[in-house]
Formats: sequence, structure tokens, C-alpha cells
Amino acid sequence: MSQFLSKCTADAIFDTAAHLKAGDLVAFPTETVYGLGADACNSQAVARIYQVKGRPSDHPLIVHIASMDRMGDWAREVPEYAIKLARDFWPGPMTLILKRSELAGDFITGGQDSVGVRVPDHIVALALLEAFEKAGGKGVAAPSANRFGHVSPTTAAAVVEELADCLSIDDVVLDGGACDVGVESTIIDCTGAAPSVLRPGAVSVAMIEECTGLKTTQSDSKIRVSGSLENHYAPVAKVYLFQTPLPGQGFIAHSNIQTPEGVIRLASPNNDEEFARILYSALREADAHKLSEVVVIPPKGIGIGVAIRDRLGRAAKGR
Ligand code: TXA
Ligand code: MG
Repeated sequence: MSQFLSKCTADAIFDTAAHLKAGDLVAFPTETVYGLGADACNSQAVARIYQVKGRPSDHPLIVHIASMDRMGDWAREVPEYAIKLARDFWPGPMTLILKRSELAGDFITGGQDSVGVRVPDHIVALALLEAFEKAGGKGVAAPSANRFGHVSPTTAAAVVEELADCLSIDDVVLDGGACDVGVESTIIDCTGAAPSVLRPGAVSVAMIEECTGLKTTQSDSKIRVSGSLENHYAPVAKVYLFQTPLPGQGFIAHSNIQTPEGVIRLASPNNDEEFARILYSALREADAHKLSEVVVIPPKGIGIGVAIRDRLGRAAKGR
């Protein structure tokens, strides 16, 4: 077992919150993927996130808070429709981009005038955020806990595999089991008159429009979203979409699609939710098996299927 791994007992979570407050890094489970957290008010701790991930320093981070009551700490303006979204979908797989308050430093926002905020729906994440707030913390900045451009981790073992070489002795990885959703949160720009989806996730356009009564607008390409880079979410193996797999290649597809002879089946999800939940671990398994190529048949659904197709499209562009 890795020296960083910690179980999620009440004592361990209390101790881990103290590590965060002291400026250490803490990887923790959320319902989407594991995050690599630091005190969002501590510029040095946040600088270490960029260092450990190998991420360009002008890419903004999401601030995680324990409840929507804390939104006002980080945002100076919250439109009515954003409050409706927060009420309906938090805690949950949704990040709101809001006009930033003074608390949101350039080292969080990448120098932009907006800040991303999310209340995750995971018992360990919420317990950690609450303990951190009790210790005087205001929020935890956390990108996905992978090296820049790689597949996001959905288990603590995957976090250790990604980052162990770059973490320090006082950093912690909380092991809360496998993530439920499996793909990153929906990111919604709430700085305009109507919501605009910057990154699709489990909260779909239909859900946003039903909740707010507003039509979503096209995303503004000027906003910097690192996850929107074309080559992202990629394993070492080359990813091909919509092809007939050949012998020796890995294969991920819905369970009703058969495996041709000699092909290495990595996952057979029964529905789109299961597809999202196991996709990243299946891509990691391709690398663990040292496969050079993986074929994926993306799902056709219009719910979380949209997010899966978005990530697979980027994974297929390679590293
Ligand atoms: O599900 C998730 O969102 C996970 C878990 C850990 O919460 N986090 C995550 O963080 O995926 P990250 O950093 O890997 O992706 C967050 C995306 C990045 O593409 C970043 O550029 C964008 O959110 N983002 C953050 N703040 C932003 C802002 N102020 N304006 C535009 N995009 C922003
Ligand atoms: Mg990421």
C-alpha cells in the first residue's frame, strides 16, 4: 500500500483537513473523478497543484465548497438562474462559472474575471470540505488528480499510479472507493444572460433548460478551459472510434456488441451511465496491458452519452 493512502475514518478526515490547512495536497474522491486538492486561499499550496500535475499555470481551477451557502464568498454576482441550478443540482456533478469575488485570486482563476465553483456529491468529499471549513478554510481548489492531458482517475489506486512520484511525504490520498459518475462535472458559464455549457457532463442541456426555463447559448471560445483542449483525457494507447477492432487491439463497447475473435475486451457496459462509470478505468487497463491500440464504439445517448462522446473525441486525438 502506498505511503500516501489513507482510509476515510472520521479521525482520518479530520487529520486530512488539517493537512489541507497546513498547505499540503490532498487527493480525494468525488462522485465524478478524484480531485487533487489544496487550500484555495494559499497561493503556494495551489502552485504545487500545477507543479504536481504538470499543468500550465494560466489554466483555472474549480473551487470545491461544502454547500451553496459559500457561493457568495467566491462570487460577486450570482444570477437568478445560477441559484436555481445550484438548488436543483448541488451537491452534484456540476460546476458553475461565476463573476469572481476578491477572494478568488489570479492563481485560482488563471487571471480571468470568473471563478468555477462546485459542491460535490460524495460523502467523503463533503466531510472533508466541512472539516476544512470548521478549521477556518474557505474552499478547496481541485483539478482532476491526473498528470496534465492524461485520463482522470476514478479510483485511489489510479491517483497513486498517476501522482505518487510527484507527491511529498505530508500529502494525502483519501481512498473512498470507485467514483459513481466516472466523467468530470458539467461546466456551465453563468456570467452571461443565459447559461452556456463549456464542458458536457452528467447534468445535461435538457436538465439545465428545464431547471432554468432558459435556452442555453453557445460557449464563448475566449474562455480558457483546459479540459477543452483537443488532445486531452488520453491514455498512452492510441484510441480509435467506430472501427471494427482487429486481433490484439483492446475493445470497449456496449454489451450488446460482440467481441471479434482475438480482440481483448476491456469493458461491456449495459447502459450509458455504466459506460461513463467504467470508461476511464478501462482505458487505464489498456495501458496496464501495454496495448498499443484501443477501439471504442461510443454510445448514442443524449444524456451522459454527450459527455462520453466529448471525452472520447479528445482521447482519440492522442496525447
Ligand atoms: O468533476 C470535476 O469537475 C472534477 C472534480 C475533481 O471536481 N474536476 C475537474 O477539474 O475536472 P479540472 O481542473 O480537471 O477541470 C476543470 C475545468 C478546466 O478545464 C478549467 O479550465 C475549467 O474547469 N475552469 C475552471 N475555472 C474556470 C473559469 N473561471 N472559467 C472557465 N473555465 C474554468
Ligand atoms: Mg482534468
